[in-house]
Amino acid sequence: TNKMMIAIDGPASAGKSTVAKLLANELGYIYCDTGAMYRALTYEALQKGINLEDEEALIILLEKNAISFEPTEKNQKVYLNNKEVTEAIRQPDVTNSVSAVAAHSQVRKELVKRQQKIADKGGVVMDGRDIGTTVLPHAEVKIFLIASVEERAERRYKENKLNGIDTPLEQLKKEISDRDYKDSHRESSPLTKAEDAVLLDTTSLDIQQVIGKIKEVVSSRI
Ligand code: C5P
Repeated sequence: TNKMMIAIDGPASAGKSTVAKLLANELGYIYCDTGAMYRALTYEALQKGINLEDEEALIILLEKNAISFEPTEKNQKVYLNNKEVTEAIRQPDVTNSVSAVAAHSQVRKELVKRQQKIADKGGVVMDGRDIGTTVLPHAEVKIFLIASVEERAERRYKENKLNGIDTPLEQLKKEISDRDYKDSHRESSPLTKAEDAVLLDTTSLDIQQVIGKIKEVVSSRI
């Protein structure tokens, strides 16, 4: 069968990466976590003390750093040049700064270019905020995953606990809402559902049910 491009977008903590990863595994496709790319740049900028409003400095930093993924049995590892940043990019300081970095149009332009290169042979599941609208506008399958902010905060709370991160639930709710607001209101390719994306509310669904629904969409496009 032909190798498709599958775009999964949606707000923060809607379960995009979990389902994208599992789906990619099942289909034998590449999984590309575009949020990790914005996070890796943000992490390095914070490390280097770069002002996150300084777009030019961010671009120079990006030019010096390749961002790559290494699939492992469990989670995929993320590298910035040779440095592994898998866990560092999930820390709250990065999470709460990444929307500022992702708002810069030149940063987006460069990362979109890298993402399109990863996807150019097809056989990819890519998740993010602008995949269906901007990165892969011709993707055969586009999914827009949503869930209530309460549900998303609770899922994140549980996940954080496993990773030893201890942020109160109410604070998570606020951080998630703030990030969604920034991501949806920026000028450069804001978070929005592509017209031809299938809307999927996962609030009362478990992971397997979500995967099942997406596979129905995939089958309908073969
Ligand atoms: O998906 P994740 O939560 O890891 O994304 C982190 C941040 O990266 C988002 O809040 C958003 O600011 C940015 N992002 C983006 N476009 C993408 C993926 C992520 O702007 N395609």
